[in-house]
Amino acid sequence: MSSFDNTHITALTGLINKAVQDVIAEYGAIGQAIPSLDTLEPGPFQVPEEMPARLTKAIQIIEAACAQLCYSIAPPGHVMINKSLEHEEPACLLVVTEARIPDLLLNKPEGVPASELASRAGLDASKLTRVLRLLATKHCFTEVKPGVFANNRLSMKLLSSDLVSSMVAMFADESLKASAYFNDTLTDPSEMDGGIPFRRATGYSFFDYYQTPQGLKKGERFAKGMIGWGDVTGKSLVAKAYPWTSQPADITICDVGGGHGNIIMGLMKAHPHIKTVLQDQPQVIEMAHKFWAEEHPEAIEKERIKFVPFDFFKDAPIEGCDFYYICGVLHDWPDAECELILKNVRKAMKPSSRVIIHDTVIRDVVRSTYDHLKASSDKSVQVDVAPEPLLPNYGVGCIRTYGLDMALMHLLNAQARTLPEYIELGEKSGLRFEKLYEAGETDLVEFTPF
Ligand SMILES: C[S@@+](CC[C@H](N)C(=O)[O-])C[C@H]1O[C@@H](n2cnc3c(N)ncnc32)[C@H](O)[C@@H]1O
Repeated sequence: MSSFDNTHITALTGLINKAVQDVIAEYGAIGQAIPSLDTLEPGPFQVPEEMPARLTKAIQIIEAACAQLCYSIAPPGHVMINKSLEHEEPACLLVVTEARIPDLLLNKPEGVPASELASRAGLDASKLTRVLRLLATKHCFTEVKPGVFANNRLSMKLLSSDLVSSMVAMFADESLKASAYFNDTLTDPSEMDGGIPFRRATGYSFFDYYQTPQGLKKGERFAKGMIGWGDVTGKSLVAKAYPWTSQPADITICDVGGGHGNIIMGLMKAHPHIKTVLQDQPQVIEMAHKFWAEEHPEAIEKERIKFVPFDFFKDAPIEGCDFYYICGVLHDWPDAECELILKNVRKAMKPSSRVIIHDTVIRDVVRSTYDHLKASSDKSVQVDVAPEPLLPNYGVGCIRTYGLDMALMHLLNAQARTLPEYIELGEKSGLRFEKLYEAGETDLVEFTPF
Protein backbone atom coordinates (compact mmCIF):
# COMPACT_ATOMS: atom_id res chain seq x y z
CA MET A 1 0.00 0.00 0.00
CA SER A 2 1.54 3.39 -1.00
CA SER A 3 1.45 6.27 1.47
CA PHE A 4 -1.44 7.78 -0.54
CA ASP A 5 -3.37 4.56 -0.89
CA ASN A 6 -6.75 4.80 0.80
CA THR A 7 -8.35 1.86 -1.01
CA HIS A 8 -9.00 0.02 2.30
CA ILE A 9 -11.22 2.94 3.33
CA THR A 10 -12.94 3.51 -0.01
CA ALA A 11 -13.57 -0.24 -0.31
CA LEU A 12 -15.40 -0.10 3.03
CA THR A 13 -17.49 2.93 2.04
CA GLY A 14 -18.20 1.20 -1.30
CA LEU A 15 -19.53 -1.87 0.54
CA ILE A 16 -21.64 0.34 2.80
CA ASN A 17 -23.12 2.29 -0.14
CA LYS A 18 -23.99 -0.85 -2.07
CA ALA A 19 -25.50 -2.56 0.99
CA VAL A 20 -27.60 0.52 1.85
CA GLN A 21 -28.97 0.54 -1.72
CA ASP A 22 -29.89 -3.14 -1.27
CA VAL A 23 -31.74 -2.37 1.97
CA ILE A 24 -33.63 0.51 0.31
CA ALA A 25 -34.55 -1.81 -2.59
CA GLU A 26 -35.87 -4.54 -0.27
CA TYR A 27 -38.06 -2.07 1.66
CA GLY A 28 -39.10 -0.51 -1.68
CA ALA A 29 -40.19 -3.96 -2.89
CA ILE A 30 -42.81 -4.02 -0.11
CA GLY A 31 -43.73 -0.36 -0.68
CA GLN A 32 -42.10 1.02 2.46
CA ALA A 33 -39.28 3.33 3.50
CA ILE A 34 -36.70 2.21 6.06
CA PRO A 35 -38.20 3.21 9.45
CA SER A 36 -36.35 5.92 11.36
CA LEU A 37 -35.21 5.31 14.94
CA ASP A 38 -38.14 7.47 16.11
CA THR A 39 -40.71 5.08 14.62
CA LEU A 40 -42.45 3.09 17.35
CA GLU A 41 -44.27 0.48 15.27
CA PRO A 42 -42.28 -2.73 14.91
CA GLY A 43 -42.33 -2.59 11.10
CA PRO A 44 -41.49 -5.43 8.72
CA PHE A 45 -38.50 -7.79 8.85
CA GLN A 46 -38.43 -8.22 12.66
CA VAL A 47 -36.96 -11.73 12.66
CA PRO A 48 -34.53 -13.51 10.32
CA GLU A 49 -37.23 -15.81 8.84
CA GLU A 50 -39.05 -12.74 7.49
CA MET A 51 -35.97 -11.29 5.81
CA PRO A 52 -35.06 -11.79 2.16
CA ALA A 53 -31.50 -13.16 1.87
CA ARG A 54 -30.25 -9.94 0.22
CA LEU A 55 -31.48 -7.88 3.20
CA THR A 56 -29.87 -10.20 5.77
CA LYS A 57 -26.57 -9.97 3.94
CA ALA A 58 -26.76 -6.20 3.50
CA ILE A 59 -27.41 -5.65 7.23
CA GLN A 60 -24.45 -7.84 8.15
CA ILE A 61 -22.18 -5.94 5.74
CA ILE A 62 -23.33 -2.56 7.07
CA GLU A 63 -22.75 -3.60 10.71
CA ALA A 64 -19.31 -5.03 9.88
CA ALA A 65 -18.12 -2.27 7.54
CA CYS A 66 -19.33 0.66 9.68
CA ALA A 67 -17.51 -0.71 12.73
CA GLN A 68 -14.35 -1.45 10.72
CA LEU A 69 -14.45 2.03 9.19
CA CYS A 70 -14.75 3.74 12.60
CA TYR A 71 -11.98 1.58 14.08
CA SER A 72 -9.75 2.34 11.08
CA ILE A 73 -10.22 6.10 11.15
CA ALA A 74 -10.51 7.06 14.86
CA PRO A 75 -7.29 7.26 16.95
CA PRO A 76 -6.59 3.80 18.45
CA GLY A 77 -6.49 5.12 22.03
CA HIS A 78 -9.92 6.66 21.54
CA VAL A 79 -11.26 3.32 20.19
CA MET A 80 -9.77 1.24 22.99
CA ILE A 81 -11.05 3.48 25.80
CA ASN A 82 -14.50 3.40 24.22
CA LYS A 83 -14.36 -0.40 24.10
CA SER A 84 -13.34 -0.64 27.76
CA LEU A 85 -16.37 1.44 28.76
CA GLU A 86 -18.86 -0.71 26.84
CA HIS A 87 -19.90 -2.63 29.98
CA GLU A 88 -21.54 0.56 31.29
CA GLU A 89 -24.26 0.20 28.67
CA PRO A 90 -25.61 -3.19 29.88
CA ALA A 91 -25.42 -1.92 33.48
CA CYS A 92 -27.78 0.90 32.41
CA LEU A 93 -29.96 -1.49 30.37
CA LEU A 94 -30.52 -3.58 33.48
CA VAL A 95 -31.65 -0.53 35.45
CA VAL A 96 -34.25 0.48 32.84
CA THR A 97 -35.56 -3.04 32.20
CA GLU A 98 -35.87 -3.87 35.93
CA ALA A 99 -37.59 -0.51 36.57
CA ARG A 100 -39.80 -1.06 33.49
CA ILE A 101 -39.01 2.42 32.17
CA PRO A 102 -40.07 1.51 28.58
CA ASP A 103 -43.49 0.37 29.97
CA LEU A 104 -43.85 3.71 31.80
CA LEU A 105 -43.13 5.54 28.52
CA LEU A 106 -45.63 3.54 26.48
CA ASN A 107 -48.05 5.76 24.49
CA LYS A 108 -46.22 8.91 25.67
CA PRO A 109 -44.54 10.20 22.49
CA GLU A 110 -44.24 13.65 24.12
CA GLY A 111 -41.97 12.02 26.73
CA VAL A 112 -41.93 11.91 30.55
CA PRO A 113 -39.51 13.81 32.81
CA ALA A 114 -36.86 11.49 34.24
CA SER A 115 -37.75 12.83 37.72
CA GLU A 116 -41.32 11.52 37.31
CA LEU A 117 -40.09 8.16 35.96
CA ALA A 118 -37.71 7.91 38.92
CA SER A 119 -40.43 8.60 41.46
CA ARG A 120 -42.74 6.01 39.88
CA ALA A 121 -39.93 3.45 39.80
CA GLY A 122 -38.54 4.29 43.26
CA LEU A 123 -35.14 5.35 41.90
CA ASP A 124 -32.88 8.36 42.43
CA ALA A 125 -33.91 11.03 39.87
CA SER A 126 -30.47 12.37 39.09
CA LYS A 127 -28.99 8.88 38.63
CA LEU A 128 -31.82 7.74 36.38
CA THR A 129 -31.43 10.89 34.24
CA ARG A 130 -27.76 10.06 33.72
CA VAL A 131 -28.59 6.43 32.85
CA LEU A 132 -31.16 7.54 30.28
CA ARG A 133 -28.72 10.09 28.80
CA LEU A 134 -26.09 7.43 28.26
CA LEU A 135 -28.65 5.13 26.60
CA ALA A 136 -30.11 7.97 24.47
CA THR A 137 -26.56 8.80 23.37
CA LYS A 138 -26.38 5.22 22.08
CA HIS A 139 -29.76 5.65 20.33
CA CYS A 140 -31.90 3.70 22.83
CA PHE A 141 -34.63 6.20 24.03
CA THR A 142 -34.86 9.82 22.80
CA GLU A 143 -34.29 12.90 24.95
CA VAL A 144 -37.17 15.02 23.60
CA LYS A 145 -36.51 18.03 25.91
CA PRO A 146 -33.77 18.43 28.53
CA GLY A 147 -34.38 15.69 31.10
CA VAL A 148 -37.52 14.43 29.32
CA PHE A 149 -37.33 11.01 27.64
CA ALA A 150 -39.49 9.05 25.20
CA ASN A 151 -39.37 5.57 23.74
CA ASN A 152 -37.90 4.98 20.31
CA ARG A 153 -37.60 1.97 18.00
CA LEU A 154 -34.83 0.39 20.09
CA SER A 155 -36.23 0.97 23.59
CA MET A 156 -39.54 -0.60 22.45
CA LYS A 157 -37.67 -3.94 22.42
CA LEU A 158 -37.19 -3.47 26.19
CA LEU A 159 -40.93 -3.50 26.96
CA SER A 160 -41.63 -6.18 29.58
CA SER A 161 -44.01 -7.86 27.10
CA ASP A 162 -41.17 -8.37 24.57
CA LEU A 163 -39.18 -11.55 25.24
CA VAL A 164 -36.04 -9.92 23.85
CA SER A 165 -36.04 -7.69 26.97
CA SER A 166 -35.75 -10.82 29.16
CA MET A 167 -32.61 -11.90 27.32
CA VAL A 168 -31.16 -8.38 27.46
CA ALA A 169 -31.73 -8.36 31.23
CA MET A 170 -30.13 -11.82 31.65
CA PHE A 171 -26.99 -10.74 29.76
CA ALA A 172 -26.93 -7.44 31.66
CA ASP A 173 -27.39 -9.16 35.03
CA GLU A 174 -26.18 -12.76 35.50
CA SER A 175 -23.77 -12.58 32.58
CA LEU A 176 -22.26 -9.15 33.37
CA LYS A 177 -21.76 -10.09 37.05
CA ALA A 178 -19.95 -13.27 35.99
CA SER A 179 -17.77 -11.49 33.40
CA ALA A 180 -16.44 -9.16 36.07
CA TYR A 181 -14.73 -12.18 37.69
CA PHE A 182 -13.42 -13.76 34.50
CA ASN A 183 -9.78 -12.74 34.77
CA ASP A 184 -9.73 -13.53 38.51
CA THR A 185 -10.99 -17.09 38.01
CA LEU A 186 -8.70 -17.59 35.01
CA THR A 187 -5.54 -16.52 36.80
CA ASP A 188 -6.43 -17.67 40.31
CA PRO A 189 -8.94 -20.54 40.11
CA SER A 190 -10.23 -21.81 43.42
CA GLU A 191 -11.72 -25.16 44.34
CA MET A 192 -14.76 -23.35 45.66
CA ASP A 193 -15.75 -21.97 42.28
CA GLY A 194 -14.19 -24.55 39.94
CA GLY A 195 -12.80 -21.71 37.84
CA ILE A 196 -16.32 -20.61 36.89
CA PRO A 197 -16.81 -16.83 37.12
CA PHE A 198 -20.57 -17.11 37.81
CA ARG A 199 -19.87 -19.30 40.82
CA ARG A 200 -17.36 -16.83 42.17
CA ALA A 201 -19.90 -14.02 41.70
CA THR A 202 -22.89 -15.76 43.32
CA GLY A 203 -21.66 -18.83 45.22
CA TYR A 204 -23.87 -21.08 43.04
CA SER A 205 -23.61 -22.91 39.76
CA PHE A 206 -25.81 -21.33 37.09
CA PHE A 207 -28.85 -23.63 37.12
CA ASP A 208 -28.72 -24.18 40.92
CA TYR A 209 -28.87 -20.42 41.36
CA TYR A 210 -32.24 -20.39 39.60
CA GLN A 211 -33.59 -22.73 42.33
CA THR A 212 -32.62 -20.33 45.16
CA PRO A 213 -35.14 -17.81 46.59
CA GLN A 214 -33.17 -14.90 45.06
CA GLY A 215 -32.79 -16.71 41.73
CA LEU A 216 -36.33 -18.05 41.13
CA LYS A 217 -37.65 -14.97 39.30
CA LYS A 218 -34.45 -14.73 37.28
CA GLY A 219 -34.93 -18.36 36.26
CA GLU A 220 -38.37 -17.48 34.86
CA ARG A 221 -36.81 -14.50 33.08
CA PHE A 222 -34.10 -16.78 31.61
CA ALA A 223 -36.70 -19.23 30.24
CA LYS A 224 -38.52 -16.36 28.50
CA GLY A 225 -35.24 -14.88 27.32
CA MET A 226 -34.31 -18.14 25.58
CA ILE A 227 -37.35 -17.75 23.34
CA GLY A 228 -36.40 -14.10 22.65
CA TRP A 229 -32.86 -15.22 21.78
CA GLY A 230 -34.20 -17.92 19.43
CA ASP A 231 -36.36 -15.30 17.67
CA VAL A 232 -33.47 -12.85 17.19
CA THR A 233 -31.03 -15.49 15.97
CA GLY A 234 -33.57 -17.20 13.69
CA LYS A 235 -33.65 -20.72 15.15
CA SER A 236 -36.82 -21.54 13.23
CA LEU A 237 -34.80 -21.26 9.99
CA VAL A 238 -34.21 -24.98 10.60
CA ALA A 239 -37.47 -25.53 8.69
CA LYS A 240 -35.93 -24.01 5.53
CA ALA A 241 -32.24 -24.85 5.88
CA TYR A 242 -32.49 -28.67 5.75
CA PRO A 243 -34.06 -30.62 2.84
CA TRP A 244 -37.03 -31.87 4.89
CA THR A 245 -39.32 -32.04 1.86
CA SER A 246 -37.14 -34.69 0.24
CA GLN A 247 -37.41 -36.96 3.31
CA PRO A 248 -39.78 -39.96 3.22
CA ALA A 249 -43.34 -39.47 4.52
CA ASP A 250 -43.90 -39.87 8.27
CA ILE A 251 -40.30 -39.57 9.40
CA THR A 252 -39.84 -39.34 13.17
CA ILE A 253 -37.57 -36.79 14.81
CA CYS A 254 -36.47 -37.17 18.42
CA ASP A 255 -35.93 -33.70 19.90
CA VAL A 256 -33.20 -34.36 22.48
CA GLY A 257 -33.32 -31.81 25.33
CA GLY A 258 -36.04 -30.08 23.31
CA GLY A 259 -37.33 -27.87 26.15
CA HIS A 260 -40.93 -26.84 25.49
CA GLY A 261 -40.43 -27.93 21.89
CA ASN A 262 -41.23 -24.52 20.37
CA ILE A 263 -38.64 -24.94 17.59
CA ILE A 264 -39.76 -28.42 16.63
CA MET A 265 -43.37 -27.16 16.71
CA GLY A 266 -42.47 -24.57 14.04
CA LEU A 267 -40.80 -27.31 11.99
CA MET A 268 -43.87 -29.60 12.29
CA LYS A 269 -46.21 -26.77 11.28
CA ALA A 270 -44.07 -26.11 8.19
CA HIS A 271 -43.73 -29.85 7.37
CA PRO A 272 -46.85 -31.63 8.65
CA HIS A 273 -45.55 -35.06 7.56
CA ILE A 274 -43.04 -35.03 10.44
CA LYS A 275 -43.69 -36.89 13.72
CA THR A 276 -41.83 -35.99 16.90
CA VAL A 277 -40.72 -37.51 20.18
CA LEU A 278 -39.95 -34.68 22.60
CA GLN A 279 -37.47 -35.68 25.33
CA ASP A 280 -36.27 -33.59 28.26
CA GLN A 281 -36.19 -33.65 32.06
CA PRO A 282 -39.51 -34.76 33.67
CA GLN A 283 -40.52 -31.32 34.98
CA VAL A 284 -39.80 -29.75 31.57
CA ILE A 285 -41.78 -32.44 29.73
CA GLU A 286 -44.75 -31.75 32.02
CA MET A 287 -44.66 -28.04 31.08
CA ALA A 288 -44.11 -28.93 27.42
CA HIS A 289 -47.27 -31.06 27.39
CA LYS A 290 -49.34 -28.09 28.61
CA PHE A 291 -47.62 -25.80 26.07
CA TRP A 292 -48.53 -28.12 23.15
CA ALA A 293 -52.09 -28.61 24.43
CA GLU A 294 -52.53 -24.84 24.09
CA GLU A 295 -50.42 -24.06 21.02
CA HIS A 296 -50.76 -27.13 18.77
CA PRO A 297 -53.44 -29.50 20.18
CA GLU A 298 -53.90 -31.08 16.75
CA ALA A 299 -50.44 -32.67 16.96
CA ILE A 300 -51.43 -34.34 20.26
CA GLU A 301 -54.86 -35.45 18.98
CA LYS A 302 -53.36 -36.96 15.81
CA GLU A 303 -50.58 -38.59 17.86
CA ARG A 304 -47.89 -36.79 15.86
CA ILE A 305 -46.03 -35.95 19.08
CA LYS A 306 -45.01 -38.09 22.07
CA PHE A 307 -43.65 -36.67 25.33
CA VAL A 308 -40.99 -38.86 26.92
CA PRO A 309 -39.04 -37.74 30.01
CA PHE A 310 -35.42 -38.81 30.33
CA ASP A 311 -32.00 -37.85 31.63
CA PHE A 312 -29.65 -37.52 28.67
CA PHE A 313 -26.64 -38.34 30.83
CA LYS A 314 -28.10 -41.64 32.05
CA ASP A 315 -30.50 -42.83 29.37
CA ALA A 316 -30.51 -43.34 25.63
CA PRO A 317 -33.39 -41.56 23.89
CA ILE A 318 -36.21 -43.53 22.21
CA GLU A 319 -34.72 -46.08 19.81
CA GLY A 320 -34.91 -46.12 16.04
CA CYS A 321 -35.94 -42.52 15.19
CA ASP A 322 -34.96 -41.20 11.75
CA PHE A 323 -33.43 -38.02 13.17
CA TYR A 324 -32.03 -37.04 16.57
CA TYR A 325 -32.24 -33.25 16.72
CA ILE A 326 -30.05 -31.63 19.39
CA CYS A 327 -30.68 -27.90 19.48
CA GLY A 328 -28.89 -25.45 21.77
CA VAL A 329 -27.95 -28.24 24.20
CA LEU A 330 -24.27 -29.06 23.61
CA HIS A 331 -23.12 -25.47 24.05
CA ASP A 332 -24.27 -25.72 27.70
CA TRP A 333 -21.74 -28.46 28.51
CA PRO A 334 -17.99 -29.15 28.53
CA ASP A 335 -16.66 -31.83 26.14
CA ALA A 336 -16.87 -34.82 28.54
CA GLU A 337 -20.61 -34.25 29.17
CA CYS A 338 -21.27 -33.65 25.45
CA GLU A 339 -19.62 -36.98 24.66
CA LEU A 340 -21.84 -38.70 27.19
CA ILE A 341 -24.99 -37.19 25.63
CA LEU A 342 -23.88 -38.10 22.08
CA LYS A 343 -22.88 -41.65 23.05
CA ASN A 344 -26.33 -42.17 24.58
CA VAL A 345 -27.91 -40.87 21.37
CA ARG A 346 -25.65 -43.13 19.30
CA LYS A 347 -26.99 -46.17 21.24
CA ALA A 348 -30.53 -45.38 20.09
CA MET A 349 -29.71 -44.91 16.39
CA LYS A 350 -30.54 -47.35 13.59
CA PRO A 351 -28.07 -47.50 10.66
CA SER A 352 -30.07 -44.96 8.63
CA SER A 353 -30.61 -42.49 11.52
CA ARG A 354 -29.08 -39.04 11.40
CA VAL A 355 -28.05 -36.64 14.14
CA ILE A 356 -28.61 -32.93 13.52
CA ILE A 357 -26.78 -30.66 15.94
CA HIS A 358 -28.39 -27.23 15.66
CA ASP A 359 -26.07 -24.78 17.36
CA THR A 360 -23.75 -21.83 17.02
CA VAL A 361 -20.68 -22.81 15.00
CA ILE A 362 -17.73 -20.50 15.62
CA ARG A 363 -15.80 -19.40 12.50
CA ASP A 364 -12.09 -18.55 12.33
CA VAL A 365 -11.20 -14.87 11.89
CA VAL A 366 -8.40 -15.63 9.41
CA ARG A 367 -9.08 -15.77 5.67
CA SER A 368 -6.75 -18.70 4.91
CA THR A 369 -9.21 -21.19 6.51
CA TYR A 370 -11.85 -20.19 3.99
CA ASP A 371 -9.43 -20.16 1.02
CA HIS A 372 -8.64 -23.76 1.92
CA LEU A 373 -12.35 -24.66 2.02
CA LYS A 374 -13.00 -22.97 -1.34
CA ALA A 375 -10.14 -24.84 -2.98
CA SER A 376 -11.33 -28.19 -1.62
CA SER A 377 -13.51 -30.43 -3.78
CA ASP A 378 -15.35 -31.53 -0.62
CA LYS A 379 -18.77 -29.89 -0.78
CA SER A 380 -19.83 -30.88 2.73
CA VAL A 381 -18.81 -27.49 4.08
CA GLN A 382 -19.84 -24.44 2.08
CA VAL A 383 -19.85 -21.33 4.21
CA ASP A 384 -20.57 -17.76 3.34
CA VAL A 385 -17.40 -15.65 3.45
CA ALA A 386 -17.50 -11.86 3.80
CA PRO A 387 -16.07 -9.74 0.95
CA GLU A 388 -12.68 -8.08 1.51
CA PRO A 389 -11.60 -5.92 3.25
CA LEU A 390 -14.10 -7.15 5.86
CA LEU A 391 -13.00 -9.90 8.21
CA PRO A 392 -13.99 -13.22 6.61
CA ASN A 393 -16.50 -14.01 9.42
CA TYR A 394 -18.21 -10.59 9.01
CA GLY A 395 -16.53 -9.20 12.16
CA VAL A 396 -18.95 -7.08 14.18
CA GLY A 397 -21.71 -8.27 11.81
CA CYS A 398 -21.71 -11.59 13.68
CA ILE A 399 -20.57 -10.46 17.12
CA ARG A 400 -23.54 -12.04 18.95
CA THR A 401 -22.04 -15.47 18.24
CA TYR A 402 -18.71 -14.63 19.88
CA GLY A 403 -20.44 -12.77 22.74
CA LEU A 404 -22.53 -15.89 23.39
CA ASP A 405 -19.35 -18.00 23.48
CA MET A 406 -17.92 -15.74 26.22
CA ALA A 407 -21.20 -15.73 28.17
CA LEU A 408 -21.27 -19.56 28.06
CA MET A 409 -17.70 -19.69 29.38
CA HIS A 410 -18.42 -17.24 32.22
CA LEU A 411 -21.77 -18.68 33.25
CA LEU A 412 -21.35 -22.41 32.72
CA ASN A 413 -17.73 -23.23 31.87
CA ALA A 414 -19.25 -24.29 28.53
CA GLN A 415 -18.65 -23.14 24.98
CA ALA A 416 -19.75 -22.57 21.43
CA ARG A 417 -17.63 -24.79 19.16
CA THR A 418 -15.87 -24.65 15.81
CA LEU A 419 -16.76 -27.18 13.12
CA PRO A 420 -13.55 -29.23 13.69
CA GLU A 421 -14.45 -29.37 17.41
CA TYR A 422 -17.93 -30.71 16.59
CA ILE A 423 -16.45 -33.23 14.15
CA GLU A 424 -14.03 -34.45 16.83
CA LEU A 425 -16.82 -34.74 19.41
CA GLY A 426 -18.82 -36.75 16.87
CA GLU A 427 -15.90 -39.06 16.10
CA LYS A 428 -15.32 -39.77 19.80
CA SER A 429 -19.02 -40.67 20.10
CA GLY A 430 -19.28 -43.00 17.08
CA LEU A 431 -20.66 -40.40 14.65
CA ARG A 432 -19.38 -39.50 11.19
CA PHE A 433 -19.68 -35.88 9.98
CA GLU A 434 -21.76 -35.57 6.81
CA LYS A 435 -22.56 -31.93 6.08
CA LEU A 436 -22.89 -28.40 7.45
CA TYR A 437 -26.03 -26.41 6.60
CA GLU A 438 -26.01 -22.67 7.34
CA ALA A 439 -29.21 -21.48 9.04
CA GLY A 440 -28.95 -17.79 9.93
CA GLU A 441 -26.78 -17.22 12.99
CA THR A 442 -26.73 -20.91 13.83
CA ASP A 443 -25.87 -23.97 11.75
CA LEU A 444 -27.03 -27.54 11.34
CA VAL A 445 -24.22 -30.09 11.62
CA GLU A 446 -25.32 -33.46 10.26
CA PHE A 447 -23.87 -36.82 11.37
CA THR A 448 -24.52 -40.48 10.57
CA PRO A 449 -23.48 -43.48 12.70
CA PHE A 450 -20.06 -45.08 12.04
C1 LIG B 1 -30.66 -24.42 26.33
S1 LIG B 1 -32.02 -25.48 26.55
C2 LIG B 1 -32.40 -25.88 24.87
C3 LIG B 1 -33.84 -26.16 24.68
C4 LIG B 1 -34.29 -26.33 23.23
N1 LIG B 1 -33.62 -27.44 22.57
C5 LIG B 1 -34.06 -25.04 22.47
O1 LIG B 1 -33.17 -24.96 21.63
O2 LIG B 1 -34.82 -24.09 22.73
C6 LIG B 1 -31.27 -26.98 27.14
C7 LIG B 1 -32.28 -28.06 27.49
O3 LIG B 1 -31.56 -29.19 28.01
C8 LIG B 1 -32.40 -29.78 29.01
N2 LIG B 1 -31.61 -30.61 29.92
C9 LIG B 1 -30.67 -30.20 30.82
N3 LIG B 1 -30.18 -31.27 31.49
C10 LIG B 1 -30.84 -32.36 31.02
C11 LIG B 1 -30.76 -33.75 31.30
N4 LIG B 1 -29.90 -34.22 32.22
N5 LIG B 1 -31.56 -34.59 30.62
C12 LIG B 1 -32.42 -34.14 29.68
N6 LIG B 1 -32.53 -32.82 29.35
C13 LIG B 1 -31.75 -31.95 30.01
C14 LIG B 1 -32.96 -28.58 29.71
O4 LIG B 1 -34.10 -28.93 30.48
C15 LIG B 1 -33.28 -27.65 28.54
O5 LIG B 1 -34.58 -27.82 28.07
